Parts: sequence; structure tokens; C-alpha cells
Amino acid sequence: MASFFPTSTTECYVTKHVRNSEILENNCFEYGGADVAGPRCRFAANCILLKVLYIGLEPYMRVFCVTGKEPEWDVGRVPRGKVIGEVLQSNVPWISIGMKVKVTAPWRTYTWVEVTPRVLVEELDNTVPPELYLGLAGSGGRTARLALEKLVKPQAGHVALVTAAASCVGLAACQLMRMEGVTVLGSCGSERKVTLLKKLGVKAFNYKTENADEALARLAPTGLDFLFDNTAGRVRTAAIKIMRGGGVILTSGRIARYDAFGGPAGGDEALEKQIIYENCLHDYGQFFVGHFSGDFVECTSHIIRLYKRGRLKNFDTIVDGFHNLGEAFAGIFRGKNVGRTIVRLYDDAGAFFEAPAPDAPAPAPAPAPAPAPWRVDVRVASAPAPPSPLYAAEAPVPGPAPA
Ligand SMILES: NC(=O)c1ccc[n+]([C@@H]2O[C@H](COP(=O)([O-])OP(=O)(O)OC[C@H]3O[C@@H](n4cnc5c(N)ncnc54)[C@H](OP(=O)(O)O)[C@@H]3O)[C@@H](O)[C@H]2O)c1
Repeated sequence: MASFFPTSTTECYVTKHVRNSEILENNCFEYGGADVAGPRCRFAANCILLKVLYIGLEPYMRVFCVTGKEPEWDVGRVPRGKVIGEVLQSNVPWISIGMKVKVTAPWRTYTWVEVTPRVLVEELDNTVPPELYLGLAGSGGRTARLALEKLVKPQAGHVALVTAAASCVGLAACQLMRMEGVTVLGSCGSERKVTLLKKLGVKAFNYKTENADEALARLAPTGLDFLFDNTAGRVRTAAIKIMRGGGVILTSGRIARYDAFGGPAGGDEALEKQIIYENCLHDYGQFFVGHFSGDFVECTSHIIRLYKRGRLKNFDTIVDGFHNLGEAFAGIFRGKNVGRTIVRLYDDAGAFFEAPAPDAPAPAPAPAPAPAPWRVDVRVASAPAPPSPLYAAEAPVPGPAPA
């Protein structure tokens, strides 16, 4: 295969360091041209050059941006995240030109990646959509499955609550527990997400419009055995209040505390601690999927097997255009996504989504509306459903095809 050597790239860099008492906005990022890399990388024995096709956006990046511990989130720096890329050039023996891989890389359209023993480069299974590796077959599915496999698994007949149930981790956790015969409740932030979760057999409620204490009393009148918590805050406190003695709490994340857009997270941590002590609840504390990196390959294979059998459905939110990275990332903290937020850089015909020219005159009214840059992709291995717009006012929630 002939190799193509781009010399310039477009990158997305940070223009404002946003603490967690502040709201992350689209304008906290800028886009600019840069050289692809210096000669050090080009001739290094352990480097690959990628044409970036998809960028996965995850809440943990906001934590890095809050703490300021990661230099990539300083003003003027280019953040890093999981990307799917096509290898254009490789100085690594087992990685060949043309291969599609998933790796952590800077937010650039073309980028060099230094492959060290600490860098996980995953070769993709070409029989599934590559985006799957950024969500269900990546950190989202792995977090749900490994937490439930390695730490604690509720049993058939138990009643469990998953918070942020329409998130990537949440959707995987809900489906995996449903497979085991667990009664699953889910909290989420919109009616459309409630509808989607109900189609998956989850007893869902909208925490933005219904008081969590009342919703849980309605949906779990005999109490909860298990809490898979992705959010912290007021829903977590409400859940702990109705947990049965000996119930189990597994904390996956605390997204309600990452960004100030939704206002204060609420909740009462002192009360939670008191109830945990008095009712002898088992609090497993914060789970971190990275502690199980040795299990990633087996876990991903397992998830892909379930996906191919139609037992696990995949939901992604696809945003078209590298220039929409900032908006897509901020959108996670406004609940705009269902499943993993993935920025797609090229259309189906392979054309790069160009940013609109800044001084371009307003376009003449088009006969048909332009496709929305945001949409939810529902993928079911046996019967892929067409994507549908996420934000059209009354758009129906895409439901999974029957398994
Ligand atoms: N432990 C680990 O190793 C690990 C690994 C990956 C992820 N995680 C954690 O798992 C959680 C979900 O991650 P993900 O990748 O699945 O996220 P995701 O797919 O990007 O979805 C995030 C969802 O969180 C909800 N949310 C945003 N702000 C919120 C707030 N203030 N209060 C309540 N809900 C809010 C939104 O849905 P609504 O419309 O429902 O509000 C949003 O769509 C996060 O806490 C993340 O840090 C943990």
C-alpha cells in the first residue's frame, strides 16, 4: 500500500482552564493548524502515524481538566483521548500500514503516537463497527462488565439501581444485569432516555423532573439490593436511604460533581455514611477499570460476542466534524448524549467534514434541512437500525430491534 505522509494537521487546544465550580463551554477550545511532528518521531523506531477517523469523548477527561494534574489540559495544550485511526506509517514491526487501531492520542486530525510498553494499541476486529471500540467494547462496556465480574454481581431476583443509566457505562450495566435476571431501575435526565431504557426492560425515571425519593418509592417499594452509581449527588443519597440491610454499593463515577452546568450535585454524604454504617451496607468504594487492564482483551472479546449474538445493544451519539469536538465534549455534562459521544472526522464517502468558514455569508435557505451534526446511532449486530436525529424536538427515541 502506498504511504501518504501529511505534513500538517489540525489540532484542538485548550483556551481556558475550567475548574469544577465552573461550567465547561464550547469556547474553552480552539482549533488551529500545526506541523504533524518533528523529525524525532518520524524516524523513531517505536512510532506510528495515524489518520484519525473517530475520537471518543469521556467524562473522565473533565476530571483531568478540573484537577489540572494533566499538563494536556493546561491552556494552549492539546488534550488526549481515545481515538480510532488508520495507520499511515509505522516503525513498529507488528503494526502495518492500513491497519485500524484504537489508542490514546492527542486531539489532532493526523498524529504520531509513540508506542511504548505503557501504551495500549488495540487492533480492531473488522467484523464490527470500529466505533464500538470507543464505547461498548471499550471503556464503557469494560467498566460495567469488569465491575460486575470482578467486584460484585447482583443475583437473579435482586433489585438494582443504575444512575446515569443512559450513559455508555450505564447502558452496558443495565443490559448485563438484566441478562442475569436482576430487576433494574435507572435514573436519567430526559424523557427520551426514559423511553429508551424502558424498551431495554429498565424501570427508568427522569431525575430532572421527578423527585428521586418519590421515584424510587414508586419503582422499588420493597427497597434496593444493589446500587451501581455513576453520578453521586442526590439520586445516590435517595438510593442509599432505601437500601435493604446488607445491600451493596458500587461506585463507578461521580459525574454530577465534575461540572457546574447542572447546578450543585446535592446529596448528603454524611447521611449516606451514617446509613451505610447503621444498616450494614457493603460499600465497595470507587471502582477503577484501569486496575483490570490485564483483563481488557478477554473482556472486549466477550462483549463483542454478546453484541454479535444481539444480546448487547450498542448506543452511540455521533457528532460530525472535528471542529465540533468542544461542543460535543461540553454536551456530555448537559446530558446531550446517549451512550458514548463519538466525533466522526470523515463522512461515509471519505470526505473530511470541513469547519464552516468564519466569515462565510449566511447560506441561502436550503430546500431541505441539513443533517444534524448530532445523532444517536443504535447498533444491533443482527439488524442495524438507521440513525435518527437526537435533538429534533419530538424525534422518537431509537429503540433496539428485537433480539
Ligand atoms: N470507574 C471507572 O473506571 C470508569 C470508567 C469509565 C467511566 N466511569 C464513570 O462512569 C460514569 C459514566 O461514564 P460514561 O463514559 O458512561 O458517560 P457518558 O456515556 O459520556 O454519559 C454521561 C451521562 O452522565 C449524565 N450526567 C451528566 N451530568 C450529570 C449530572 N450533573 N448529574 C447526573 N447525571 C449527569 C448525562 O446523562 P443524563 O441525561 O442522564 O443526565 C450524560 O449523558 C461517569 O461518572 C464516569 O466517570 C468510570
